Formats: sequence, C-alpha cells, structure tokens
Amino acid sequence: MKGLVLSGGKGTRLRPITYTSAKQLVPVANKPVLFRVIEAIRDAGITEIGIVIGDTGDEIRAAVGNGKRWGMKVTYIPQEAPLGLAHAVKISQDFIGDDRFVMFLGDNCIQGGISPLIEGFGRSAYNAQIVLKKVEDPRSFGVAELEEDGRIARLVEKPREPRSDLALVGIYMFDHHIFEAVNAIRPSARGELEITDAIQWLVTAGYSVYPYVHEGWWIDTGKKDDLLEANRLVLEELQPAVQGYVDRDSQLIGKVIIETGAEVINSTIRGPAIIGEKTRILNSYVGPFTSIYHNCLIEDSEIEHSIVMEHCSIRGIPHRIEDSLIGRNVEVSRSPLKPKAYRLVIGDNSNVGVL
Ligand code: TTP
Repeated sequence: MKGLVLSGGKGTRLRPITYTSAKQLVPVANKPVLFRVIEAIRDAGITEIGIVIGDTGDEIRAAVGNGKRWGMKVTYIPQEAPLGLAHAVKISQDFIGDDRFVMFLGDNCIQGGISPLIEGFGRSAYNAQIVLKKVEDPRSFGVAELEEDGRIARLVEKPREPRSDLALVGIYMFDHHIFEAVNAIRPSARGELEITDAIQWLVTAGYSVYPYVHEGWWIDTGKKDDLLEANRLVLEELQPAVQGYVDRDSQLIGKVIIETGAEVINSTIRGPAIIGEKTRILNSYVGPFTSIYHNCLIEDSEIEHSIVMEHCSIRGIPHRIEDSLIGRNVEVSRSPLKPKAYRLVIGDNSNVGVL
C-alpha cells in the first residue's frame, strides 16, 4: 500500500501566514501538521508516500526531505495549480500505479488510532473506504448518506438540507479504480475536480465504497481558531517532559514540555503547554494550551491559548496575549518612544485586536 498526502492548495483562509509559508507546516504542539500526517501513514506500515505540492513546494521539500527520518521514501508530485482533490489524485497515477493507497489532506489533524484502519484496508476487498465523522452542522462539509447494509449510498457536497450528519474527514482509501473515476468526472461549478464527485462515480458504477465512522477528534486546520483547537487537543494528550533548563524561581504546573536547550527563568508555565528548543522564557507567564516553537524569546509578558512560530520575540507586553497565532520572525514589544502609540508593521489580511 502507498500513501498520498495533499500539500498544495492556496490556504486563503489562513492568510497572512500562507502568503509566506505552507499551512501544512504550521506547528501544532510544536510539530508541523504535515509531519503528524506522515507519522500516521508510517504507523500503518506504509513506507512509500507521494506528496502533492504547489506554490509552497520548495518549503515542503526542505522540511520533509527524502523521508529517511521516518524510514520512508518520499516522491514529490508537483500540481500546476490547486485544481481540486480529485485532480491531485489524477496527477498521482504514475506514482500509485496499481497499488491500493490512502490519501490524507496534509492540513488535517486527527486523533491517533487511525493507522490500524488503513492497514486493514490494505488487506480488504473494498474498492474504497472513506473516513466519516459525525458533525453538528453538516452544511459546510461533504456529507455521506449510507445504505441500510452500511455501504455509501450518496455523497453530497455542502448540502443545504443535509440528510445525514456524517461528514467526510480528509482521509480516503482507494484501489486503482479511482483513476477511472477521476478521469471520467468534469470540474464542478467552482472549477475544481471534486473528490466527492469521484467517489460518487465509484458508487454509481457499482464499486464497493464503505464508510468508517471515526469516534475521536478530527480538525481541519484551515483557519486560525481550528489550529488553536487542534493545538489544545494535541497538547492535552502529550506526556510532560523537561529536557531544558528550569531555574529555581520558576514553576511548571500541570502537563508541560520543555524541549532541549530551552530555558525558563523566573517564570510560571501552566500546562498543557510546550516550550520549543532554544526558546527562552524570562519573567513571564505562559498559560494553558500554548505552544511556543523554537528559538523564541518571551520576556516580561503573559501569553496563553496561542501558537507562536519560530524566531519570535515578545517583550514587555503589559496585557496578556490570548487566542493568537503568531508567524515566524515576529517581534512584539513595548515601545519606549513618545508619544505613546501603537506602531505596527503588519502584512496584508492580518488581524490585530488591541485594548
Ligand atoms: P483545502 O483546505 O480545501 O484548500 P486550500 O488549501 O486551497 O485552502 P483554502 O480553502 O483556505 O484556500 O485543501 C485541503 C488540503 O488539500 C490542503 O492541504 C491543500 C491540499 N490541496 C491540494 O494539494 N491540491 C488541491 O488542488 C487542493 C484543492 C487542495
């Protein structure tokens, strides 16, 4: 069995972060979402994966490399434009050949335990299996209706009046018949080759398409609040560990991970929280559900329920920072300049809330 990970796309919902970097590389609990996806595939015993890349391909290649770190062989599949999930499958035909495969969206974060299902599909006789999850409001998802015998009867993209609450999660398993489907379907009204149309084509053609209803959590990390939610859920599952330095004047409360080379001086960290490699926390408070990535400085400040990416410095901020996603190389500091004023250099489509 092979793995296919979709890591192209535009990422419009996560601007401005995605103007400069791939959304799949945003760290959740200090590990890029894409790495979590790769690990889930590896845990299913798969050793060959293809990664579909777009404009941010160079960055993805630099971060993932040849896959040796995970004991895997990685093939990159450039997609000329984000023409849809089924288009990504179509251009991967040479890589997949006749093998059965699992396809993951590279920006989806799912609770562990899915790997045995993938392994099982490798041995099954199903033509396809799709992972579903019960959601409260199915109207913004691809929704599956089931037959009485449990098979998929129909898939509807963003139904106005949903007939089921089972949404498609970004994990799909196929055999080679999916290539007949992606070559037969036409682009949708939004100009994309839709994976729901391809799966519907399989159902209509009489192929066996089965659901798997995932009970754990699943988050599409396409937007800031979803990323913070994924960060919260993953942090809750981590085991505390201190690999860095914590001085005697500091307090770690609850589940806290201090990574190698990090320093915590005269500060309080209330978990679940993670402090990345070579990051310094000085005279500060880091509250629950916060991930501070590598090589950052937090000084004389308070922060919680936030993700801070690498090489940031946050200094002397008089009010607590909350619910924030802070990109790479960002500086947030109190200015001594008079008159007292906010002085901002902020990229397009940013979002700043001030007191
Ligand atoms: P989406 O989140 O549906 O699309 P997007 O990345 O363009 O984001 P936005 O809606 O905010 O503009 O894509 C899901 C995943 O699939 C994501 O990891 C990107 C990837 N993808 C491709 O690789 N190729 C494609 O043609 C599309 C549509 C998505």
